[in-house]
Amino acid sequence: MIKLLTYLFIISLTSCVQQNANLQVSGQATLFERIGGIPVLTVVVSETIDSAAQHPKLERTFKGIKLATLKESVVNQLCVLSGGDCKYEGETMKNSHADLKITTAEFELFVQAMRDSLNRHVATREKNELLKLLAPMKRDIVHQNN
Ligand code: HEM
Repeated sequence: MIKLLTYLFIISLTSCVQQNANLQVSGQATLFERIGGIPVLTVVVSETIDSAAQHPKLERTFKGIKLATLKESVVNQLCVLSGGDCKYEGETMKNSHADLKITTAEFELFVQAMRDSLNRHVATREKNELLKLLAPMKRDIVHQNN
């Protein structure tokens, strides 16, 4: 009898462990988690915006802009976009870029600055997933007449 109970106990323990393992496999990490969360997003956004603000072809757009506030807003936006538990309270992409007259070339340079930073801090798969999420924003950010 004791032998049988021990046997049943071991079986139930094994199935418990298996269930937990399944949970870990099926409970997929979000892109936000795989990127490294807020610490990594903060570094990537900061490097991207500093690089853009210093770029000879982009600096005119960032004149007079409070970069710390902008960085905070972009971090929250990318956090939400990648599945993180944040709140983005900024404007739509259309409204926030409406007066900036951003060209396609300028958009590409900005994305390149972000790609360079992502290359330094994030794995290829996560980099491509994040850039894919940003690509559709182009039509709202680039000024219509160019
Ligand atoms: C996928 C690319 C981009 C993303 C995800 C993005 C994201 C954002 C976000 C979230 C804001 C803040 C909106 C708010 O807080 O209300 C913002 C504002 C701004 N963005 Fe972008 N942006 C992108 C491309 C660009 C490009 C290409 C430029 C210029 C070359 C640029 C220049 C600016 C500037 C100057 C502001 C501040 C506008 C203001 O405060 O009046 N952005 N962007």
